[in-house]
Amino acid sequence: MATNRGSFSSKAGFILAAAGSAVGLGNIWKFPFEVANGGGAAFVIMYLIFCFLLCFPVMVTEIAIGRKTQKNPVGAFIALGFPKWSFLGKIGILAGILILSFYNVVAGWAFGYFIQISFGNFEIGGQFNEYINNIGRVGLYGIIFMIATAFVVSKGISGGVERASKILMPTLVGIIVLLVIYSLTLPHAFEGISYYLVPQFSEINFSVIYNALGQAFFSLSLGMGALITYGSYVSKQDNIISSAAMITVADAGIAFLAGLMMFPFAAYISSGAVETVQGGPGLIFTVLPGAFESIGPVLGRIVGGLFFLLLSFAALTSTISLLEVPVTYAVDELNIQRSHAVWVIALFIFMMGVPSLISNGDSHFFTNFITYFGAENPTNFLDFVQHIGSDTLLPLGGFLMTVFAAYVWKKHNLNKEIEEGFPAFKGTLIEKYIDFAVSYLCPAILGIIFLLTVLSRFFGVEIF
Ligand code: TRP
Repeated sequence: MATNRGSFSSKAGFILAAAGSAVGLGNIWKFPFEVANGGGAAFVIMYLIFCFLLCFPVMVTEIAIGRKTQKNPVGAFIALGFPKWSFLGKIGILAGILILSFYNVVAGWAFGYFIQISFGNFEIGGQFNEYINNIGRVGLYGIIFMIATAFVVSKGISGGVERASKILMPTLVGIIVLLVIYSLTLPHAFEGISYYLVPQFSEINFSVIYNALGQAFFSLSLGMGALITYGSYVSKQDNIISSAAMITVADAGIAFLAGLMMFPFAAYISSGAVETVQGGPGLIFTVLPGAFESIGPVLGRIVGGLFFLLLSFAALTSTISLLEVPVTYAVDELNIQRSHAVWVIALFIFMMGVPSLISNGDSHFFTNFITYFGAENPTNFLDFVQHIGSDTLLPLGGFLMTVFAAYVWKKHNLNKEIEEGFPAFKGTLIEKYIDFAVSYLCPAILGIIFLLTVLSRFFGVEIF
């Protein structure tokens, strides 16, 4: 089997694909407004610390497990000789399926906005609720998005995933740089930038800290074996440490640029009163179209169209990685042909996303799906899946992954795998750091965050 499963053709191809997985909706709309809620630059600093000190060692571990075994997240633990741990791979695959089911819905919204704004329909901003409840239309955009994802994945690793990333990632960087330059020329840009970059340490509290960690984890695509999967297609000659460093820098860098683009827009919309602008999905989908309109009928379509195209591209390289995980599993473990596995799994996940699609008002049942203990309002299905798939299962996955690497597989084996492609690793400071992080720092912090998130999210228990 191993011979015909494919591989990345170069280290650059792998880095671009993994960075493509990392850079997504999480960076471009979620990051800037997590920043706004979390004290501006103070959040940015915490986010960067988490990315490099905590997430980077987890990323190295995932890639090393994948490359050592050349297997999917379930097969990897079996190949290492610990079949009992394959449950961890199964949790990962479940998390990936859950995440893709709602992520595809939001990606479909973004893609639909690209079309609407390109045709000059700036009113869509005021009609966001009607828009997402027009199930026929957003359903169609969701289908198109899933088909695009499946099409790329069906072409395999070097011919699909890698090739798409090599085109989409540079385009994405080009678009974002253009938009940053443009947004810096808008009136009130300075107020936007200073809000973004001047730290307000007084606004930091525990929930801000764990949002920063959650954001770092989700943004780097960690905790579910996406990087075990991509790592399984990496050559033994490649240096895992430098690859992981570049992926982390690319992801954090693009999140940072997204902030540089978004805050001048927010300041422009609000005539300088950035703190009054509603964050999160609201900003992107309800407020920005109006801002694009005021840029002018033609330029507004171009800038706005480019913005949503950027968002769609970023989302596409992420959905590709999410679909790749169960597909690799089906190919390795169930001996199903890639071209068949892709379409069956994509259809299945799309169907699983239908309740999320209709959970924003259209279906009363899915809109008011569940009320957590101690919560006043019900949570809709889309958010529920997000809370389980990403907020709960990813930190759990990261925790178990580092426990496994340090205490079951053992660090000398991890180190041996890293040394392939980086013979000078032994004895370096980075080796010592990874050793410390994988053994103590990551399990401790990820374990605590996992428990606290579950307690506060589902049971309304706030310890801090
Ligand atoms: N990292 C992506 C984002 O920021 C989302 C994503 C893609 C992801 N693949 C993943 C998250 C795997 C967790 C695990 O939008």
